[in-house]
Amino acid sequence: GQVGKDGYRHYMEKELHEHPVAIGQTLKRITDPASKRITLPPMPFDLAQVPRVTITACGSAYYAGMVGRYWLESLARIPVEIDVASEMRYREPPQPDKGMALLISQSGETADTLGVLRSLKKAGQSIVSVLNVEHSTIGRESDLVLGMDAGPEISVASTKAFTAQLSVLAALAIEFARARGTMDQAHEERLTASLLDLPSRAAEVFTRTKDIQAMAGVVAQARDVLYLGRGICTPIAFEGALKLKEISYIHAEAYAAGELKHGPISLIDQTVPVVAIAPSTILFDKTLSNLQEAKARGGRILVFTDTAGAKRLEGVAEQIVIMPDVDAFVVPILYAIPVQMLAYEVALLKGTDVDQPRNLAKSVTVE
Ligand code: G6P
Repeated sequence: GQVGKDGYRHYMEKELHEHPVAIGQTLKRITDPASKRITLPPMPFDLAQVPRVTITACGSAYYAGMVGRYWLESLARIPVEIDVASEMRYREPPQPDKGMALLISQSGETADTLGVLRSLKKAGQSIVSVLNVEHSTIGRESDLVLGMDAGPEISVASTKAFTAQLSVLAALAIEFARARGTMDQAHEERLTASLLDLPSRAAEVFTRTKDIQAMAGVVAQARDVLYLGRGICTPIAFEGALKLKEISYIHAEAYAAGELKHGPISLIDQTVPVVAIAPSTILFDKTLSNLQEAKARGGRILVFTDTAGAKRLEGVAEQIVIMPDVDAFVVPILYAIPVQMLAYEVALLKGTDVDQPRNLAKSVTVE
């Protein structure tokens, strides 16, 4: 049936507020809260025997895949190949025997992602897809669908489907790690508990709306914005820059913070704000020193961090959004929310058509 805006100004605003529910509903299908174990459906092949995972997606789903790569590599020590679907489709990288292809898509209809599915199937790979719309073309052609339960997403720019995708990928990485013997039960329980805690932590993020609006005030004045992250937060910087471009039409670029000195630092002055995703849990000292370099060049520094990080950023950051403290494992899921909210608040200040940005489509079903 028809999905309404429930009193919100835009579908995007409503869907941002649905992050906690989307994560919670998705986790309900793949976790057992009593035992704190992951309960994904059985795989039609032996995870312990998979020599490599090939991840493919487009847009925000691709950035979810980048986070998935970090988790699979670090927790399950499995080699991962990843590319955007439009590149993977024609690169045709050599595929190993018994390899697994992992397609990520909100709609399940993206033409390039479907094209990769078909070519990897021909190359003998097992096809697993992470989808919001399970009854879709990608869903029908997959060997296994790992469904999220984000509910319908109407706004063109993806929001809640992103954190739901990440929730599934986190569970999959744990499942792989268990199968491959790289994670003991206590570790699984700790990580699963941090996932189960996410809906409440995600709901807390909305108490930071005023701080995010203050940050939006700075970003909305800019013509170019630089987003920085490190490690598992780098894809979240990419997601932030993409969302800003999509709905506010402000040019944004995202970089791994360590690459700053290899180029983008030449752009920085008072007119180019730097948005950093820098929780104190992940490579914080390195990012802090990158931000000090940017500040020394006159850059206006805006940071998403936690309480401990905020203390260390005094005198460096002009605006800080202090996030709830969470386990480093779930940081990329939680920090995606304020980064998307920032883009939304900037779009409001710019007065753009938030739900239907020019030239973009919700689902790109042509190549
Ligand atoms: C479009 C949307 C994006 C989305 C991408 C991939 O470009 O505007 O928000 O991330 O398609 O879509 P999918 O349905 O495959 O996740």
